Amino acid sequence: MPVNSLAAAAMQWCVGLVLACCALLGATQAMAADPPKAPGDTVADYWREVRQGMPGVSQVQGAEGGVMINARGETWRQQRNGPLKRYGGMILLAMLGIIVLFYLVKGPMKLSEPPTGRKIQRFTPFERFAHWGTAITFILMGLTGLAILFGRTVLGPLIGSDGLGGLLALGKLVHNYLGPVFLAFTILLIFAFLRDNVWQKCDTEWIAKAGGLFSSGGHVPSGRFNFGEKTWFWLGVTFLGLFVAATGLLLNFPALVDRTRDLMQNLVLLHAIGAVLLLAMSLGHIYMGTVGVEGALDSMKTGEVDETWAKEHHELWYEDVKAGRSGHP
Ligand code: HEM
Repeated sequence: MPVNSLAAAAMQWCVGLVLACCALLGATQAMAADPPKAPGDTVADYWREVRQGMPGVSQVQGAEGGVMINARGETWRQQRNGPLKRYGGMILLAMLGIIVLFYLVKGPMKLSEPPTGRKIQRFTPFERFAHWGTAITFILMGLTGLAILFGRTVLGPLIGSDGLGGLLALGKLVHNYLGPVFLAFTILLIFAFLRDNVWQKCDTEWIAKAGGLFSSGGHVPSGRFNFGEKTWFWLGVTFLGLFVAATGLLLNFPALVDRTRDLMQNLVLLHAIGAVLLLAMSLGHIYMGTVGVEGALDSMKTGEVDETWAKEHHELWYEDVKAGRSGHP
């Protein structure tokens, strides 16, 4: 073999050797960084990603079709069964306690003068229909909702899990079907009482004297509705009532929104928080409408009140009615 060809072959052999060494080094480094996996590890990685909510591919249509497990589900369950139930229960029990204490200390607000026997119309049949429709559906929604949230803790030990299961299956049906009816009545009630729940000058005095709640025999002049009733109307019925009804409606009909599991879980929490606050406020309203104020229930039962009641509780409204001004109805 000529010397030139021998040198070229030696050169090729050296280059080949260097390239082979580089390739071997690279492979060794790659193996050190990412050692080959046992089949068991690959499966574990796969399920870890599924558990963390990584989307994959599936035949399921719609939002999150490829997400097998909702990563926040467990946190949500703890939030619902922990703080929501604990603080929700405490708010409702505290409100009940305050009302009972108030009743024991102060007693019902009685009329200072005897009734005259002369009646004034306070509510029209339509207003009473809207009110009682809202009240009855609200009470049914409240009782079934409380059973859904607190049933396992409160009723479970009393009636057992079979009894609770049957009761909740029925309660859930009532809750789901009555929700839209409650919304319809709430809207009717808002329209019925809107014009008399606007700000009036006399509300300043009512606020300053806290409605006469803590002074003896203190009736503060007010229009058809006093500031306490206006607060219930705006904060309770209008804001919380519509909020609870709207979030409930979205839970009833998830197709109305882009129904991701996170969104539905958030809606459940918001719906329950709103409902607890509304229930707490309604306890105050129901107390004032029944035992808290002598003669108040007559107005919603018959639509009429005695003139003494009208004068002592809603003096400016009474004067309007007497003077033939727009006292409604
Ligand atoms: C058993 C339950 C209830 C009772 C006994 C009751 C009783 C009464 C009474 C007696 C009045 C008339 C007060 C007055 O003449 O000034 C009244 C007014 C009113 N009630 Fe009820 N109620 C109940 C439940 C509800 C519920 C659940 C709602 C709404 C979610 C509601 C909303 C209203 C509204 C908006 C008014 C008009 C006063 C205002 O605008 O604040 N009530 N209620």
